[in-house]
Amino acid sequence: MSDNSFFPVKQEIAKTAYVDEAAYARLYEQSINDPEAFWGEQGKRIDWIKPYSKVKDVSYTGDVHIKWFYDGTLNVSANCVDRHLATRGDQTAIIFEGDDPGVSKHITYKELHEQVCRLANVLKKNGVKKGDRVTIYLPMIPEAAYAMLACARVGAIHSIVFGGFSPDSLKDRIVDCDSHFVITSDEGLRGGRKVPLKANADKAVAAAPGVKHVLVVKHTGGNVAWTEGRDLWYHEEIASVSADCPPEEMSAEDPLFILYTSGSTGKPKGVLHTTGGYLVYASMTHQYVFDYKDGEVYWCTADVGWVTGHSYIVYGPLANGATTLMFEGVPTYPDISRFWQVVDKHKVNIFYTAPTAIRSLMREGEGPVKKTSRSSLRILGSVGEPINPEAWLWYYNVVGDGRCPIVDTWWQTETGGILITPLPGAIGQKPGSATKPFFGVKPVVVDNDGKELEGETEGNLCIADSWPGQMRTVFGDHERFVQTYFSTFAGYYFTGDGCRRDADGYYWITGRVDDVINVSGHRMGTAEVESALVAHPKVAEAAVVGYPHDLKGQGIYAYVTLNAGESPTEELRKELVAWVRKEIGPIASPDLIQWSPGLPKTRSGKIMRRILRKIAANEHDSLGDTSTLADPTVVTDLIENRMNNA
Ligand code: PRX
Repeated sequence: MSDNSFFPVKQEIAKTAYVDEAAYARLYEQSINDPEAFWGEQGKRIDWIKPYSKVKDVSYTGDVHIKWFYDGTLNVSANCVDRHLATRGDQTAIIFEGDDPGVSKHITYKELHEQVCRLANVLKKNGVKKGDRVTIYLPMIPEAAYAMLACARVGAIHSIVFGGFSPDSLKDRIVDCDSHFVITSDEGLRGGRKVPLKANADKAVAAAPGVKHVLVVKHTGGNVAWTEGRDLWYHEEIASVSADCPPEEMSAEDPLFILYTSGSTGKPKGVLHTTGGYLVYASMTHQYVFDYKDGEVYWCTADVGWVTGHSYIVYGPLANGATTLMFEGVPTYPDISRFWQVVDKHKVNIFYTAPTAIRSLMREGEGPVKKTSRSSLRILGSVGEPINPEAWLWYYNVVGDGRCPIVDTWWQTETGGILITPLPGAIGQKPGSATKPFFGVKPVVVDNDGKELEGETEGNLCIADSWPGQMRTVFGDHERFVQTYFSTFAGYYFTGDGCRRDADGYYWITGRVDDVINVSGHRMGTAEVESALVAHPKVAEAAVVGYPHDLKGQGIYAYVTLNAGESPTEELRKELVAWVRKEIGPIASPDLIQWSPGLPKTRSGKIMRRILRKIAANEHDSLGDTSTLADPTVVTDLIENRMNNA
């Protein structure tokens, strides 16, 4: 990770970019010195029903409250759809590219308007009101975007659950936010394989008695079980309602959505985002970070089940009147050129993906990339985990033919939008660094005592002041919000990430400093995997840590202690992996399971995870201080039988 490799801003990009080097310096300074004035101006980029006169009311101490544009009113779906009708009604809003390369479809803003209105009327007809929660469990099909926008239109709060989550995980999320309405499809399609979404939803809903209706999109046409009275076909319902639905007037601080994410303790928490500030921030970052110009085709490969899909497939791009591509499939199907074939097919100008995808394609060499043109590409983006310089350079040289700047965007579910990133016309890149803060974002690096560190340094990454896209609370548990983000380092928002700041003021994210791991850009709490493992009848105790993994960034390493009398077998190992998949979902499958007769504990019984992380990383030569161990022989045994010898 050398600081010496530097890719200066390209003049041809800077010439037409919204922000060049001088503008970045000027605007950034303004945004930090006078946030009220800066955001007061920027807030006007979206349409308000009643304009705001108050810009910001934030306290990071005490009870913690965060409010932006808070006396204004607006509707998010009107901003993402209706306001474009006069100028770009016939422009494509969404390009849908199916799992099957023979299937694609263009949806204009006019068509989007009709679809969203109809679905909004279906929600209303079935009793969904402002403030109600609607759970969305859909594949990457346009109906997912319609569903989000229809909720926003009637003022309902959506909670999207990624289609890869198990029935149990879906049930927990439905119950936690007490949602009475679920939207799913018969099946999903990924890489030619069917995902039984309706069957999963049936299992989840069986244990969530509050659910009154399940609205089902007919996508693959596969057989599904049907509960009369509860289940509704999407196509039948939308045909029976009006294509006009006036948008609900929402206060800027009314909730827009809940998105569950993993933390270092307990069950996933419902991150709550609100209406006005979120939309201002998502649309502004989408425009400036990707330097999005009218008429360009923009493609973010994320799933709408993650925050990246919320902010940078749906809300940011559509608020900006962009053409956004939704891809149902996977990068390797029907073959490993698929991403680049899609780029050529739809003349994609801006392409935004995750390092894990880059690494897995890089493994296959240049051939599958080079047989495509990719000449439409102008800007490349990366998100979800640190990108190793090797993958960065491959992305830059092979995918972008050395022509396209890479924006390595650091942010989180909690932040609503991108916080640290290059701007293509303003900030030169160093492979592996997310570079510099976006407007209004004030990163600080603190030591473990919360002391702010100056200049070139390394420590815990915090943000000193609020930005409009910040989460407002944990749904139903404000105390957990305060505890998780504002109690570790008083007066700061704590990100959970470690970082280094170099002599040029560039930020290098070094990964999580808490018990959250990042597997292929998917965030997972070690505690969640542990509780799934100990729920197995043969398991006495489990400790889970992340370890460096060539493709996934981090892999899941589980230390498992079996109940007395149980013997460790290969079958049992497989059974435990399958068990975790069933309990949480495939993304939580342990990569390595080590049978551990005992776990390293302090005399007070606390598991010493630091030691487990070192052994999992095959770095047992540098275990550090082990003097507080209750029984040092446990460690010797773990090292001897370690699973990762790489
Ligand atoms: O550790 C950071 C990592 O992903 C975490 C946030 O995960 P999630 O809430 O699922 O959101 C992912 C998409 C925004 C962060 O705490 N992360 C995200 N982007 C980067 C990153 N780490 C390094 N570089 C990035 N560009």
